Amino acid sequence: MKIVKTVAEMQKESAALRTGGATIGVVPTMGALHSGHASLITASALRHPATIVTVFVNPTQFGPADDFARYPRTPDEDAALAEQYGATHLFIPDTSAMYPQGYSTMITVGSLSTVLEGAVRPGHFDGVATVVCKLFAATHPHEAYFGQKDYQQTLIIKRMTRDLNLGVGITVCPTIREADGLALSSRNRYLTSADRVTALALYRALRAGRSAAHTAGATGKTIEDEMLQELSGLQVDYVAAVHPDTLEPLETVITGDTIVLLVAARLGSTRLIDNVIVTVGSDAY
Ligand code: PAJ
Repeated sequence: MKIVKTVAEMQKESAALRTGGATIGVVPTMGALHSGHASLITASALRHPATIVTVFVNPTQFGPADDFARYPRTPDEDAALAEQYGATHLFIPDTSAMYPQGYSTMITVGSLSTVLEGAVRPGHFDGVATVVCKLFAATHPHEAYFGQKDYQQTLIIKRMTRDLNLGVGITVCPTIREADGLALSSRNRYLTSADRVTALALYRALRAGRSAAHTAGATGKTIEDEMLQELSGLQVDYVAAVHPDTLEPLETVITGDTIVLLVAARLGSTRLIDNVIVTVGSDAY
């Protein structure tokens, strides 16, 4: 696996790969890699002769009250994991390589980025869209892999890629969970063992919402109420039962509808998010 640190060097590598006939998959990450990231690397490595994993803790997607300074940084372990799962390149630029002195361009992706996560973290998705666009420009991939874990992020990246004619295929892979249902996250390492137990309420809320969605006469509101019941005692940023493409609230929900349930909550100073996609009436349990 080649380790690349500058944009110019990455672009040169990518051009050489393309000239040699290789297709390129990219897996953008902020590092502290875990099995969720590994599943994306595996998916890319199965399809592309070249897989570039990017590791960059992107300052422009963190607000002033967010955890940028304490976000876990584990570059050596990240390199080992990326290589183990089939990455051919690790792109690990420093902040000045991505945002040199005088940098001043940001990408804004309209209304999708101002609801839910965007309402709680103003400017977050501008930072995500901007850095992902820059990572695409540095790596020039055929396809990019993202996790459903960050559902709203996948919608924003798909929209940006289409609106700006970036010519990159976007593939979304399922959320990888612990055996008890907790979605893997780089932030889970902040949880105390008591918080780790409390954190399971997010998945319980999603399951309760899914059951409620399968109940005759369900509405967005009845589903959200069921979800909230599982979250008593947590500081909830939002629960939402919304349209999977527009993220707009739902009135009545009928058999055959596909909806997405999302939750965000804080445990002490750690913020967790999760979601499930539900096809009403067809995956009841
Ligand atoms: P990060 O949180 O490191 O996540 C990188 C990718 O891994 C994202 O596509 C995310 O959805 C996916 N991922 C995280 N946990 C997962 C899980 N449990 N199962 C499956 N996939 C999972 O998301 C970001 O970084 C950044 O916003 C980024 C896109 C890199 C831009 O900075």
